[in-house]
Amino acid sequence: MTREDLAGRLRALPATRKIITALDVPGAAEALDLAARLGPDGGFVKVGLELFSAAGPAVVRDLRSAGRDVFLDLKYHDIPNTVAKAAVQAAALGASLCTVHAAAGRAALTAAAEALARVPVSPAAADGRRPALMAVTVLTSMSAGELQETAPSPDSLADRIARLAALAWDCGCDGLICSAADLPAVRSAVGPAPLVVTPGIRPAGAGKDDQHRIATPAQAVRDGADFLVIGRPITQAPDPAAAIAAIAAEIAAA
Ligand code: C5P
Repeated sequence: MTREDLAGRLRALPATRKIITALDVPGAAEALDLAARLGPDGGFVKVGLELFSAAGPAVVRDLRSAGRDVFLDLKYHDIPNTVAKAAVQAAALGASLCTVHAAAGRAALTAAAEALARVPVSPAAADGRRPALMAVTVLTSMSAGELQETAPSPDSLADRIARLAALAWDCGCDGLICSAADLPAVRSAVGPAPLVVTPGIRPAGAGKDDQHRIATPAQAVRDGADFLVIGRPITQAPDPAAAIAAIAAEIAAA
């Protein structure tokens, strides 16, 4: 499946499926219980390093069996052969989105994109879709000082993000993960074609928790986000399914 076809199919999903609930929990039982409380429309969930380290691929299979689309956020950063083979395993698990660090470099990004383009669609895949390969540019937790320690450069942060975004797209990745604050810079670097997933979202009127630079769902979608990763405003809500419906309405009105 070409990346244009894949992006078109993902963008055609209804608004409730553009909201990815972060399953930031320490075990399979908690994850499956939370996923069940998202209701039939809360289709998309994120499995990150904590849950995957605790519960492994089995929890991804169980979430797929429960009808959930899975964003498998393991941020691969390794040699090209290993990154490509990990991406193939994400496809076998039926993940809809998986992540790689753009800083893994041209060879690793290209190897992963080519491997996913070749992979036969897994019976576990959602609607016959292969996973979209999404690149992380610069982790938003990195300070300017830390960045200079690990990758010294005279470039501004915005320039680094734009350069890595353009590299990932050039290498065949399907899209990018970026904060709401970086959406305008990323869209101006890569244009409208790449899929973009944005965390750090707070519905109008919700608390910030420990997030600093937040955007409302409507603002993020207006700035070019295709999917929103949302944790606590959904997971801590008394009725998570209702929270998803309210956010979807906010997106639809954007
Ligand atoms: O609860 P909250 O909505 O803040 O959760 C957001 C999710 O998105 C968490 O899983 C968090 O790790 C992730 N994330 C983020 N900001 C980034 C990258 C990822 O909040 N820049």
